[in-house]
Amino acid sequence: MKRDEKMEKKKMLTGLQPTGVITLGNYIGAIKQMVDYQEKYDSIIFIADMHAITIPQDPETLANNIRQLIALYIACGIDPKKNTIFLQSENPYHANISWMLECNTYFGELSRMTQFKDKSKKNANFSAGLFTYPVLMASDILAYDVDYVPVGIDQKQHVEIARDIAIRFNKKYGETFKVPEPLIRAEGTKIMDLQSPDKKMSKSSENQKGVIRLLDDTAVIRKKIMSATTDSMGKINFDIENQPGISNLINIYVSLSGMSKEDVVEKFAESNYGTFKTAVADLVVEEIEKIQKRYNDLINSEELDRILDVGIEKALKTSREKYELMKQKIGLRR
Ligand code: AMP
Ligand code: TRP
Repeated sequence: MKRDEKMEKKKMLTGLQPTGVITLGNYIGAIKQMVDYQEKYDSIIFIADMHAITIPQDPETLANNIRQLIALYIACGIDPKKNTIFLQSENPYHANISWMLECNTYFGELSRMTQFKDKSKKNANFSAGLFTYPVLMASDILAYDVDYVPVGIDQKQHVEIARDIAIRFNKKYGETFKVPEPLIRAEGTKIMDLQSPDKKMSKSSENQKGVIRLLDDTAVIRKKIMSATTDSMGKINFDIENQPGISNLINIYVSLSGMSKEDVVEKFAESNYGTFKTAVADLVVEEIEKIQKRYNDLINSEELDRILDVGIEKALKTSREKYELMKQKIGLRR
């Protein structure tokens, strides 16, 4: 019985770029969904550090971001026992597979990638890696025969090109790759900037007073919530149009407490904004303190290195088999 159940579990894989510190928006909008997925799927989560260098990176900052991101994801509930976690740059097969796939990908189709068009417009001196980035992403995915690739909507086109490449390769050389499906993250609750609640809370925002980052000092987090923009209505109501600030705080409360919107509004019906903000701050700080505690235990620990050692070993084994199979199919043999 147990064995059958295990055999039925579908495989998923996703990559995370090690750039910047995760915000409360990322946590509520993306990470919590991944924590749910790990119960359902046999999952592989890797740090896409080779993708990060498609644009210039300071070496020390990059190295710090990589370790920080892994520790933070685990602290947020990504369970190393349920997920294979590894660094892309520790697996040479990704780039090798990518080359073989590049030779089966058209210049024209890569030229049509909207993210490439956007990014290359911003800086005329872009690298060749920025252009071939979707093929490296295809190799990340196709190396592991996964069923699903959970990504945000901005990455959908890259999963689609991975599918096209897989189908083309299978046709040309015979069945080699499983063709995966994108699992587009449900829109979910969008967390807005605390200072400008008409804008998404974003790590790149100029005014950091409106953005909560998971590694912010908890006293600072509290202050940011207490000084969140509200309105002059004086009543706790969910009304995005007229009370965007209060509605955003309700959304945060709902997401972290698991209560329904109606119950939250009812609970605070008699409260003034100060009382409600204090309650939101208590909840956010409680959640983030747990994450920070786990993070601090992990960040300089050998445990983190052991997790990565176990992960890379598994990843190498599977991707090496795919790499060897591709070479055979293509005719790269003695
Ligand atoms: P980004 O940090 O913009 O690369 O976002 C990564 C993912 O986090 C997105 O695909 C969204 O699913 C989620 N996300 C980012 N910001 C927010 C936000 N303010 N509210 C909800 N989800 C968000
Ligand atoms: N390109 C993705 C991003 O910027 C990260 C990524 C790299 C990825 N390889 C992947 C996501 C493979 C899913 C599957 O967010």
